[in-house]
Amino acid sequence: MKVVISLGGIFFADAEKLKNAAVVFDELAHSYDLCVVTGGGVKAREYIELARELGANEALCDYMGIALTRINAKLLIAALERAYPEPFLDYKDVAVAKASDREGGGRIAVMGGVSPGYTTDAVAAILAEYLNADLILIVTSVDGVYDADPHKDASAKKYNKLSPKELVAVTMKEELKAGSRIVIDPVAAKIIERSGIKTIVIDGRSDPRAIIDAIHGTHHGTEIAK
Ligand code: UTP
Repeated sequence: MKVVISLGGIFFADAEKLKNAAVVFDELAHSYDLCVVTGGGVKAREYIELARELGANEALCDYMGIALTRINAKLLIAALERAYPEPFLDYKDVAVAKASDREGGGRIAVMGGVSPGYTTDAVAAILAEYLNADLILIVTSVDGVYDADPHKDASAKKYNKLSPKELVAVTMKEELKAGSRIVIDPVAAKIIERSGIKTIVIDGRSDPRAIIDAIHGTHHGTEIAK
């Protein structure tokens, strides 16, 4: 089974959190074909904000974010035992490496952002589509997809289940600026819709072993499936 994980920026705040997640990924790599796409976190937002203050346009700000997601990819690789040694820069390179890796099966492909206009959730969705993955797991700083931002609106309602079409409708209301705090960006939602790949959004703030449970079908987040 092929699984692509979008690992939210909150994992890169401290070494222990990252190490605990890496242990889970190394364990999963024994049984699953695994790719992990790393988010940018607070550092990305800091650089984006600085660039914006200096007059940078949104595309340049996006490139700031991409650079930080790639640094975080290197950090995760440093914590993993079973990863390819460098972050991948493009989707097709992951497919080529996995296809030619006859000897060392079970290695984890790690990559950050790719191009302006979306977030690493879209990168995970595109990679999953390109590899014909079975599951996309978005591990983030909220416990699922809401009808409004739960950090700002106490009455926001969480969805336990959404169709891809409903996900598109929910996410299209979001503003797509560099560094904006959205659970799933609209590009990711459209890719999930067209590929039809089952997607689960779970809370990354608790025990990372929740990632294993979610892959096995048990979670308290939002499931996006037809
Ligand atoms: P993230 O993927 O970390 O954004 O990319 P996020 O999902 O909002 O953050 P987390 O994971 O929940 O913490 C950070 C920023 O980098 C740029 C965007 O500006 C994005 O907001 N980015 C990232 C791109 O432009 N393209 C990419 O492929 C990836």
